[in-house]
Amino acid sequence: MHCTRKIDDDIIYVGADNRRLKLFEAVYPVPRGVSYNSYLILDEKTALIDTADRAVTDVFIENIEHTLEGRDLDYLIVQHMEPDHSATLIDVLLRHPECTVVCNKMTFDMIRAFKGMEVKALTVKEGDKLELGKHAITFISAPMVHWPEVMVSYESLTGTLFSADAFGSFGALNGALFADEVDFDRDHLDEARRYYCNIVGKYGMQVEKLLGKVNTLDIKRICPLHGFVWREKIDYYVNKYMLWSGYKPEKQGVVIAYASVYGNTENVANILACRLRERGIECVMHDVSVSWHSSIIADCFKYSHLVFASMTYNGGVFVNMENLLHDLAAHALKGRKIALIESGSWAISAAKGMREILSPLKDTEFISDDITFKSSPTEGIGEAIDALADRVAETM
Ligand code: FEO
Repeated sequence: MHCTRKIDDDIIYVGADNRRLKLFEAVYPVPRGVSYNSYLILDEKTALIDTADRAVTDVFIENIEHTLEGRDLDYLIVQHMEPDHSATLIDVLLRHPECTVVCNKMTFDMIRAFKGMEVKALTVKEGDKLELGKHAITFISAPMVHWPEVMVSYESLTGTLFSADAFGSFGALNGALFADEVDFDRDHLDEARRYYCNIVGKYGMQVEKLLGKVNTLDIKRICPLHGFVWREKIDYYVNKYMLWSGYKPEKQGVVIAYASVYGNTENVANILACRLRERGIECVMHDVSVSWHSSIIADCFKYSHLVFASMTYNGGVFVNMENLLHDLAAHALKGRKIALIESGSWAISAAKGMREILSPLKDTEFISDDITFKSSPTEGIGEAIDALADRVAETM
């Protein structure tokens, strides 16, 4: 049976939750599920904004047909061709051969490449307007937020920004369509940050460009392709996006991420955490063999200072730390203050390897000499840890 929610009398949410997906994009754990959002506008003409993932085909199609109540589907606006939003495009078009796909040229080519067929299409570009009756939609290109073909759509009657992947979040909606129906800051901000940093975090400049374009619009509502619809406190979320896209830390504090096989490097990490807390400095700790790397990356975006501690392994950096740091570099984080701790029983070289991986990060400062210890920490290391804690305090 259909499962829809009204955004207003003419705009209906027809997307669906998936709580069985283990890994989003085959890499990010989503234990709280994910929503695939799609919106249907009912006017003199009808328009569906994006489709949904294959996993929710049945209820998604039921939602559309129930909402249309036998009407034609005049337009399918394709903002983003990633398959979590386009897998069911053909299912919709087979049921609605009358439908015209509205998309830009790059999307048109992607439809041919992904689906192996031509569709009846109206190609649009930045600034073009689609009249539906009372509602009119203006298209705004948003390349690399998160693929190159992405565009967002602004509906002027209601001030609704259909924002594609921007302003999305991990997590199923569980019936709460609007962000103001939950305690977003307490219960959902961390997952929204993890979504942003890992999905579009690399493309901060492109996100800033999009924010610049949409800042000129009178936005009363934001409808993303994942997560909640925003109709209150929009500035709160836009401000988060301004920080994240500018790689500005939300908090002064330290992420300590450590790799430790037998507990010695972990011991040093714990001592450092104590020394930082004694100085009133907030810190979070991650064992890189236990924490999701997507969570560590999100914390690296959140906090100002990063300490990476690794033992030497196969003549280099421990594999889980190496993977994390490569992932962090791939997400182009910048503007952080970093310190390194290394260990090993012979040929200690982890810090050199970590520094090499992190060296492409822009506006990044290594704030202290690397701390090195052999096999297990001894009393002498306390002084070095104290000095590092002091250095962190000085640089906040
Ligand atoms: Fe949710 Fe870039 O797709």
